[in-house]
Amino acid sequence: MEIKLLSGALGAEIKGIDLTDVSDVNFKKINDLLLEHKVIFFRDQPITKDHQIALAEKFGPLETHAYVKGLKEYPEIVRIVKGKEEKNQWGENWHSDVSYNSKPTKAVILKSIKIPPVGGDTCFSNMELAWETLDPKIQEKIKDKKAIHSSLGAEFFIDNYKYMEGNEKRNYDSYSNEHPIARTHPETGKKILYVNWTYTKQIIGLEKEESDQILKKIFEHQARLDLTCRFNWTENTIAIWDNRSVIHYAIADFFPGRGLGHERIMDRIAIEGDHPQ
Ligand code: SIN
Repeated sequence: MEIKLLSGALGAEIKGIDLTDVSDVNFKKINDLLLEHKVIFFRDQPITKDHQIALAEKFGPLETHAYVKGLKEYPEIVRIVKGKEEKNQWGENWHSDVSYNSKPTKAVILKSIKIPPVGGDTCFSNMELAWETLDPKIQEKIKDKKAIHSSLGAEFFIDNYKYMEGNEKRNYDSYSNEHPIARTHPETGKKILYVNWTYTKQIIGLEKEESDQILKKIFEHQARLDLTCRFNWTENTIAIWDNRSVIHYAIADFFPGRGLGHERIMDRIAIEGDHPQ
């Protein structure tokens, strides 16, 4: 096996592991790599949708997205299509997937189907390191507090994505849940900074103004470049990220606004998480 680190903060590109081997022994190797590096990448993996699903199922029950419909033959797979004239670009801001759910996603397995010839990288930031390096005064202030995470609602999705369909529920409500700001990773026992710019709205127990000020500082801290890695995709790459301990940002620097007009397609399977503690 070969491991190439993407940065000193997190992320590794792995060679020499067969992702179609879902034996307990091979899965343990993959999960250990994930816990250590937080996001792992495997290039040149023309694996089938069934293989992608079988690998995801080793991590736990699969999650149905709150708003987005999966593929007809494979409802477990959400195809993220960033079309040529999309108004908005999925994931184009720092976030942890569906942190507004009561049990937010544990991990995601993403396969690149179509990659633009330029741009479209994804950045990840290490939230264990973000907690460790956070200003101790802020740590003290928020260590036992919770924050409210809210979704953008189905309307946002339906209005902004031309090439993806909303799910049958047509649920126009937005979801909102409270989670500890410093959660404990259920497998490693490490503290993780669990807020994100896209979905975290307010710290419970603080006035809105103070909450906004602290969240602003935290969001800036989380985005510090020395906490991140950046991945330049090629087609048929499989990425697995631990959605509990990273936030990520899909850079949409290939869209028509810049006159490039490319598209980007990814197949996403999410694994159900637990109630953050
Ligand atoms: C996501 O934000 O869930 C997808 C990331 C990507 O498309 O790179």
